[in-house]
Amino acid sequence: MKIAVLAGDGIGPEIVAEAQKVLEALGESFEFESAAVGGAGYEAHGHPLPESTLRLAQAADAVLFGAVGDWKYDALPRELRPEQAVLGLRKNLGLFANLRPAILYPELAGASTLRPEVVLGLDLLIVRELTGDIYFGTPRGRRAAVDGPFPGSPEAFDTMRYSEPEVRRIAHVAFQAARGRQRKVTSVDKANVLETFQFWKEIVGAVGREYPDVTLEHLYVDNAAMQLVRNPRQFDVIVTGNMFGDILSDEASMLTGSIGMLPSASLDAHHKGLYEPAHGSAPDIAGRGIANPLATILSAAMMLRHSLHRAEQALRVEAAVKKVLAKGLRTADIYEQGTRQVGTQEMGDAVRAAL
Ligand code: IPM
Ligand code: MG
Repeated sequence: MKIAVLAGDGIGPEIVAEAQKVLEALGESFEFESAAVGGAGYEAHGHPLPESTLRLAQAADAVLFGAVGDWKYDALPRELRPEQAVLGLRKNLGLFANLRPAILYPELAGASTLRPEVVLGLDLLIVRELTGDIYFGTPRGRRAAVDGPFPGSPEAFDTMRYSEPEVRRIAHVAFQAARGRQRKVTSVDKANVLETFQFWKEIVGAVGREYPDVTLEHLYVDNAAMQLVRNPRQFDVIVTGNMFGDILSDEASMLTGSIGMLPSASLDAHHKGLYEPAHGSAPDIAGRGIANPLATILSAAMMLRHSLHRAEQALRVEAAVKKVLAKGLRTADIYEQGTRQVGTQEMGDAVRAAL
């Protein structure tokens, strides 16, 4: 099986190297091929998602992705900024299903900004639709306003839209995921205001009737944002659109106190996927060997499970990560008194030793 390795910018290359070494240590015959993406793609080929990189990603069975972005690209026009690589890969590979688990490891309960008794045992999964909604909806652009309070004035607009099949397929992903968990799905919408999300709610409800063994509830997005900090353990699987999922998944990640621990998967209809840590490229600490590689290593575990049909190997990697945490090893971002601080490579080595 072929894995495309797109390390990207900032700490991307350091953390991806550790995840790749973990995959190599499993004794499987995976083949790795690297390509430039993000700012690195722009430097090498003048575009954040070079043609050759996209072709490699399309040909591979899975993509191991680091992170993209650096302040030095802030002045570039939007179509050349590193983020465009992320959006282009999602669109071109049809990666419509974004899985973002937020799990609190008991050893790290002290790292959360919420009280331990509120977050201990937290284990939720956000299923975010990733190729539709206002992110990709057309038309979009700028024009002179034809109506509204200031006709004739310059205005900008985007289009929020979802088709029935788009909502159905992401709803199925959520209900199927719930079957392997606590059998509860919370669909997050804004049906009280938006036509798009009234439609969303109806379709998720209809799909839910095909899963009588799974409990379905509907929450408005503002209430969901509040519930996430009030009592996050009420959630099992949250399914929502692209924009609300972007916002809620950042909120959920912070409940665990350690964004350096959270993996993610973006899947197409045939289980091909792109796997990346939930955190960004952290250019401020790049090249110093102190970044936490665990989110990327856990993303590799998700890759083993969802794209490479190696569920036992995924469990092995996850168990190794837990073992290393239990032993008291910590990178700087999750360091607490009484634990032992290690760097990126030492953490990766410890996970491989624990395998
Ligand atoms: C994410 C990021 C991206 C998004 C950006 C980098 C385009 O915030 O993966 O959540 O908005 O989807
Ligand atoms: Mg985001």
